[in-house]
Amino acid sequence: MKILIYGIILCTGVLFLQFGRNNANTDVIDVDKQRSYCDVQVKKTLAEMNGNITLIPRSIDNNTTEWLKTDVYDWTSGFWPGILWFDYEYTNNPQIEKAAALYTESLTALLSASHKGYHDLGFQFYCSFGNAYRLTKKDEYKQILLKGAEKLSKFYNPKVGTMLSWPGMVKQMNWPHNTIMDNMMNLELLFWAAKHGGKKDYYNMAVSYAEKTMENQFRPDGSCYHVAVYDTISGRFLKGTTNQGYSDNSMWARGQAWAIYGFTIVYRETGDPKYLRFVEKVTDLYLSRLPGDYVPYWDFDDPKIPIAPKDASAAAIVASGLLELSQLEDQTQKAETYKKAALCMLQSLSSDRYQSRDINPSFLLHSTGNLPGGYEIDASINYADYYYIEALTRYKEMEKK
Ligand code: GLY
Repeated sequence: MKILIYGIILCTGVLFLQFGRNNANTDVIDVDKQRSYCDVQVKKTLAEMNGNITLIPRSIDNNTTEWLKTDVYDWTSGFWPGILWFDYEYTNNPQIEKAAALYTESLTALLSASHKGYHDLGFQFYCSFGNAYRLTKKDEYKQILLKGAEKLSKFYNPKVGTMLSWPGMVKQMNWPHNTIMDNMMNLELLFWAAKHGGKKDYYNMAVSYAEKTMENQFRPDGSCYHVAVYDTISGRFLKGTTNQGYSDNSMWARGQAWAIYGFTIVYRETGDPKYLRFVEKVTDLYLSRLPGDYVPYWDFDDPKIPIAPKDASAAAIVASGLLELSQLEDQTQKAETYKKAALCMLQSLSSDRYQSRDINPSFLLHSTGNLPGGYEIDASINYADYYYIEALTRYKEMEKK
């Protein structure tokens, strides 16, 4: 109870006293308690999967209790193995390690020549094999990551300077070269590979991608378009539009979240302060428009707010991104602001409003995958869980320091 009251005071302080200006105690997350909660839920999901490693638990619709499963080719397939690695990191449980390795290795199929793939190879490989390698340092995992990066790099178009995101949308939407904000997350695999024996050009591709995206895919206030469409011949930016947001000019919550996390990676990898100043702008806008519980509605501009679905996945992505950004900051006040905001997000996500607990085996409720597409609305989704457990892991590491 004391912790709850403390937390409410802290979060209200951050929201209303302007960022970074209060001195409230931020130690309001009992990380071990939340990580133990995650472990309980992981075991429930493993029981439901019943040893089936050919499918991946992706999402649980509102008012249902079972995972909708998908195959390894789905863009979300890396998140479940990644969750298992984070859980193993905390519990040291050999059963969890075994499951993590089996699900991870099942994604090797993505390398087969018959699978063309798309930009999401970055999410798929880095969340699964990336965590596997981070924790085990096994060379076989490293080799898969390098091959994954090579396959991902094939989507790079040097005329445009970014990777093609959705090959299927070229014809379907007449978007010749489309680049979605989500794709910023896939740059991490290219940056990693360039430093671990892969082609140095991967680094240049990732930087060019970030540069073009910064130049074209944001409005003057720091909000982003979900999709940027480019001409394949001239490389010229044609228009900003949306696929999953409320409208072309609205601020889709997860798009803004990918931008915050993605440009934090770019700053970490390049050390170029222009990316730091840019991600601050993108972040400050996001924070200034958040509702009181630090979990955004699915799109900041949905006119139905406050009777609109939330997106806990965006909150989890931003919480994790901001914990990293707070450690990279060159201004103490900004660092404190971002850390406090991230902790308020984690605290809110860890409350009975957002944790699934006995309702279903996921970690979190209330994410929105694709509202215009009519699916995963107010649902549990594996990437919300992934970034939630990653954020808890990051915070634990920060506490140790
Ligand atoms: N494609 C990633 C997302 O839905 O955010």
